[in-house]
Amino acid sequence: MINRNTSAVLVLLVILFANYQVQCTRKFWRGKQFSTDSPSRHWSFQGLSDNVQTLWFDQILDHNDPTNPATWKQRYYVNDRFFNSSSGNGPVFLMIGGEGEATARWMNEGAWIHYAEQYGALCFQLEHRFYGKSQPTKNLATENLLYLTSEQALADLAYFIEAINNKYKLTEQNFWIAFGGSYPGSLAAWLREKYPHLIHGAISSSGPLLAKIDFKEYFQVVVDSLGQYSEQCVTDIHSAMSQIETLLKHMIGQRSLTEKFKLCDPVEKSISNPLDIASLFEAVASNFAGVVQYNKDNSPHAKITIDQVCEIMTNQSIGVPVNRLAEVNKLVMIQDGEKCLDYVYNKTIKQMQNTSWDAEVASGARQWTYQTCNEFGFYQTSDESDSVFGNRFPVDFFIQQCLDIYGEKFNSETLKRAVYRTNTNYGALNPPTTNVLYVHGSIDPWHRLGLIYSNDLKRPTIFINGTAHCANMYEPKDDDFPQLKAARAEINDFIGNILKSDSN
Ligand SMILES: *[C@@H]1O[C@H](CO)[C@@H](O)[C@H](O)[C@H]1NC(C)=O
Ligand SMILES: *[C@@H]1O[C@H](CO)[C@@H](O)[C@H](O)[C@H]1NC(C)=O
Ligand SMILES: *[C@@H]1O[C@H](CO)[C@@H](O)[C@H](O)[C@H]1NC(C)=O
Ligand SMILES: *[C@@H]1O[C@H](CO)[C@@H](O)[C@H](O)[C@H]1NC(C)=O
Ligand SMILES: *[C@@H]1O[C@H](CO)[C@@H](O)[C@H](O)[C@H]1NC(C)=O
Repeated sequence: MINRNTSAVLVLLVILFANYQVQCTRKFWRGKQFSTDSPSRHWSFQGLSDNVQTLWFDQILDHNDPTNPATWKQRYYVNDRFFNSSSGNGPVFLMIGGEGEATARWMNEGAWIHYAEQYGALCFQLEHRFYGKSQPTKNLATENLLYLTSEQALADLAYFIEAINNKYKLTEQNFWIAFGGSYPGSLAAWLREKYPHLIHGAISSSGPLLAKIDFKEYFQVVVDSLGQYSEQCVTDIHSAMSQIETLLKHMIGQRSLTEKFKLCDPVEKSISNPLDIASLFEAVASNFAGVVQYNKDNSPHAKITIDQVCEIMTNQSIGVPVNRLAEVNKLVMIQDGEKCLDYVYNKTIKQMQNTSWDAEVASGARQWTYQTCNEFGFYQTSDESDSVFGNRFPVDFFIQQCLDIYGEKFNSETLKRAVYRTNTNYGALNPPTTNVLYVHGSIDPWHRLGLIYSNDLKRPTIFINGTAHCANMYEPKDDDFPQLKAARAEINDFIGNILKSDSN
């Protein structure tokens, strides 16, 4: 399937993956970790502390089929440090796991732990099916991924709540509040929507509620955010992307690109494969976008800031714009621990086809990409020649990846039905929720698929000026922006208010 003439689409997929992820934390899959909350040197937390336990729950494989008795072990974490079991009405906080391994780190830090301390909450985190150690099937073959859907994940959460209520002898006085950021932010809202008798309220952070195949707004926000630094920065990126096009036209230029951008495979050899070229452009663009999505603003994972990359992009003593872009690229690669920039399409697809739990792509890339092909789309495209990141990675490039990784069934018609189904099922930007607070940051490209303004008092929102993906979820710091501090205080009040009210 690789040698068909459409093969150009394939290369892009691999590189794109690091980009179209929705996680709160940047993750990688080529030679790297892929986890929702991978420890980084910025985190002081080193492992489980005394009050955090790792436990396993017997979960049902198929919530849609009562004739299927199969079960599997789902991992969860508990922190009971703040909860007074004899007080009778302490709340229960549930951190929803997402498209990567769930680690114990969130059980000891992050804004929600401070809320838990204040309200005396019992804290849980449930790992999402098919990620981390929560492995419902013997491998990740496409026929097994049938059980990987957001609806099954929500049902897992519902069954988990029922079981914990039983185990801890909790009553209707013990209100459950869900938390989640990014895709789990959407799940938090949907959990309240679908199971209001089990979950009292939710804080939905940076959640993309609208499924959309062609998420072209992503790079538009990236450009807007860079433009806030300076228009010159945007102009120089545009020039650099055009210079790459020019260099690709002749052998000397190709060699120079291979060297400047530290490509793992020489672009001279890929030049006739449009998928490889698409993939190359997408890789360079997504390295840039990652800086914006995870901009310093309080994301402890980000080491690089917009200011830093724009300073490089506009520094004429480094040379012409393409040389400056190459410098930025190197900086991102150093941060990510990448020795060379991998972009060859068929290599990526081959890796993505590996169905073993031991494969590198099992850290989330294969599963999450499946969810995009089968439920959400979310493809971060750039397909207009006058746009800053060019026209080299249109939506077809991503759809080709669905086909090449999971098979012919995953075509553009499937994707249209899938996205329509998801939006019809959950209500897209019109979710019928109460007691759910939607929080987004203006720098974060994902806010374009989320609920950021609402006239409906029952559907409150917070749109934080100047913060990136999931900023409100991280451990508070003294030098956080005032508007971020204010948002956390507002979230705290919201939790206090819904805990006081019995109304469902
Ligand atoms: C726990 O709750 C009980 C009943 O309300 C109360 O008597 C006790 O002082 C509380 N314990 C702590 C440590 O707050
Ligand atoms: C521009 O780049 C040069 C050469 O790398 C460096 O010495 C200089 O400090 C940079 N200027 C700014 C303003 O960053
Ligand atoms: C991928 O493409 C390269 C160059 O086009 C080729 O040499 C290689 O054999 C291909 N690999 C696979 C697995 O198809
Ligand atoms: C899948 O990945 C595993 C673990 O890295 C490896 O041992 C295996 O050979 C790979 N399978 C294929 C078909 O590439
Ligand atoms: C957001 O912040 C920027 C500066 O940080 C300011 O110029 C702008 O007016 C603010 N926007 C809103 C809507 O408050």
